[in-house]
Amino acid sequence: MKIIIKDTAAEASAAVTEILLQQIAEKPASVLGLPTGGTPLAVYARLREEFAKGRGSYGSITTFNVDEYIGLSLHDPASYARYMRENLFEHVNVKASRTNIPDGSASDPDAEAKRYEGLIAACGGIDLMLLGLGRNAHIGFNEPGSLHHSRTRRVALTESTLEANSAYFASGAVQPTHAITMGIGTILQCRRIVVLATGPEKAEAVASSVDGVVSEAVPGSALSHHPDTTIVLDKAAARNLGIAQPMELRA
Ligand code: F6R
Repeated sequence: MKIIIKDTAAEASAAVTEILLQQIAEKPASVLGLPTGGTPLAVYARLREEFAKGRGSYGSITTFNVDEYIGLSLHDPASYARYMRENLFEHVNVKASRTNIPDGSASDPDAEAKRYEGLIAACGGIDLMLLGLGRNAHIGFNEPGSLHHSRTRRVALTESTLEANSAYFASGAVQPTHAITMGIGTILQCRRIVVLATGPEKAEAVASSVDGVVSEAVPGSALSHHPDTTIVLDKAAARNLGIAQPMELRA
């Protein structure tokens, strides 16, 4: 596992933006896995800015979002489908038909999860998966206890995740308690994984994922099974890491 620590969240986001731009420059038909949430907003903003300046071509890429809430339609203000359109897809030359997000309004979420898993395989798998990290070390919506070989499926969100994400719902809006998420096994099959975690509220999750025991209680710890994972942090998120971290790269 490669660890990159930057002074600020803005610098960490810039580093991740460069990794993504390099990926699509080297392989224009890349299949990207994408997260939502607060952390990648600065990355998506930079990608939009760079695109407006003429940098980055998305015409041949395919995207797969890591998760979506069950019960929200494509147009719901809190849906991840809408988040992706507003924060990235509508601003770059990606083909809408090549952007994939689990359908949160599917009448049979189990069948939808199976379809989504099949679609990823049919596209030849994911070249680069960008992830955030939950305060409880979840990746995607794989909450503590998720099996490391789990596949795309319907999951229940924990109290801590519901609380952390309540800020994204307007007052009075119903917050879903379940989601469809790529499984940890699905994520581990991606050829390259990049995790962005910033801020002091992620320090414990970062330390338990990187320095702790590999266990189902800590979903992020599953990443140590993967041969090509890079974790990009700001100093605040890195503050609980052991000083003897052997592969630490202070870039
Ligand atoms: C979002 C996702 C989640 C988030 C995580 C961190 O698609 O899969 O795992 O990456 O909850 O969220 P933020 O960035 O809001 O702290």
